[in-house]
Amino acid sequence: MTDTGLSLREVTAASVRAICALKVADSQSGYVAANAVSIAQAYFQPTAAFKAAYADEAPVGFIMWRPDSRDPDRVMILWRFMIDRDHQSKGYGKAALNLWLQQRREDGIQLVTTSVVLGPASPLNFYRAIGFDLTGEIRPNGESVLQLSL
Ligand SMILES: CC(C)(COP(=O)(O)OP(=O)(O)OC[C@H]1O[C@@H](n2cnc3c(N)ncnc32)[C@H](O)[C@@H]1OP(=O)(O)O)[C@@H](O)C(=O)NCCC(=O)NCCS
Repeated sequence: MTDTGLSLREVTAASVRAICALKVADSQSGYVAANAVSIAQAYFQPTAAFKAAYADEAPVGFIMWRPDSRDPDRVMILWRFMIDRDHQSKGYGKAALNLWLQQRREDGIQLVTTSVVLGPASPLNFYRAIGFDLTGEIRPNGESVLQLSL
């Protein structure tokens, strides 16, 4: 747990509805899939993993990742990440991501990649503040790739 009271926990049968009820702001909805869609996609992607972010006992966010199939022991793809609209701008996003990065570092991961949609509500500068840099690569879906060495 971090000093903001943030922890990453398994999604369970008891919590899955609450996690699926977490929502981003309307202006952000084009930047990340709904959590229910992410969990459904993970069902078909056996290497994917996900956790819920809790602030003390309150569910506030969701994070999902998978190894890069080209270099699975070394490179992790941060696939989805969101903090509920009612809990944003309280430091939970930064705390959750830094905790997740620390756990990946402990797993021996050396590089994390992610990709973002650019635009007015883009999380690009959030990721840059954490230490991610743009690689210059643009994915076929138009998203810009970011990476962070651990
Ligand atoms: C991006 C997101 C996770 C940030 O979560 P959050 O809890 O609001 O972020 P925090 O409160 O921890 O903010 C941490 C820092 O980033 C800054 N920040 C947050 N969102 C930002 C943004 N979109 N652009 C620039 N800076 C941002 C904050 O000002 C804060 O700066 P500080 O440390 O200097 O005070 C959240 O806005 C979100 O869920 N967005 C929609 C989904 C999304 O885009 N996900 C990522 C793509 S998969």
